[in-house]
Amino acid sequence: MLIAYASRTGNVARFVEKLPFKNRLRIQTGTEEVRQPCIVITYTTGFGEVPKEVQEFARRNRAHIVGVASSGNRNWGANFAKAGVVLSQQLGVPLIHQFELAGWQKDVEKFVQEVARLEASAMRLPTSALALNSAEQEVAYLAVS
Ligand SMILES: Cc1cc2nc3c(=O)[nH]c(=O)nc-3n(C[C@H](O)[C@H](O)[C@H](O)COP(=O)(O)O)c2cc1C
Repeated sequence: MLIAYASRTGNVARFVEKLPFKNRLRIQTGTEEVRQPCIVITYTTGFGEVPKEVQEFARRNRAHIVGVASSGNRNWGANFAKAGVVLSQQLGVPLIHQFELAGWQKDVEKFVQEVARLEASAMRLPTSALALNSAEQEVAYLAVS
């Protein structure tokens, strides 16, 4: 799965470094274009807002975005990591995780689990296939298709 992410002060970039997915794109201006399914990870700015470059990226690539996740800081109370809520509602895709700053190990685990769930549902695999690795999932996919 392609991970498209935006990071202003480095927290989201550090979270992405901890992920096992090596197919990554850093959103810099928002003019980047993708041609495959991707998950967007964004930071939160303003008062619970989606950064400008992420809005632009989402506008251009909405057909390819299958899920979103967001970083924030709990000091912002009700606006904590709200960019993810706003973006997922705008795009009509699942908000798979919200985490603080660069995230902890449990955030990495939760994110990876949710990506596997999304991939399995995209391939219409039974939930039992979630325990499989991606090569095994492909075999299972061929078996049901
Ligand atoms: C100007 C500004 C506004 C922010 N607004 C919010 C906010 O509304 N909600 C929130 O949860 N975090 C907010 N944050 C915190 C960042 O989203 C958080 O530090 C995030 O991890 C930054 O990611 P980055 O280091 O990848 O840019 C704000 C930070 C700044 C500098």
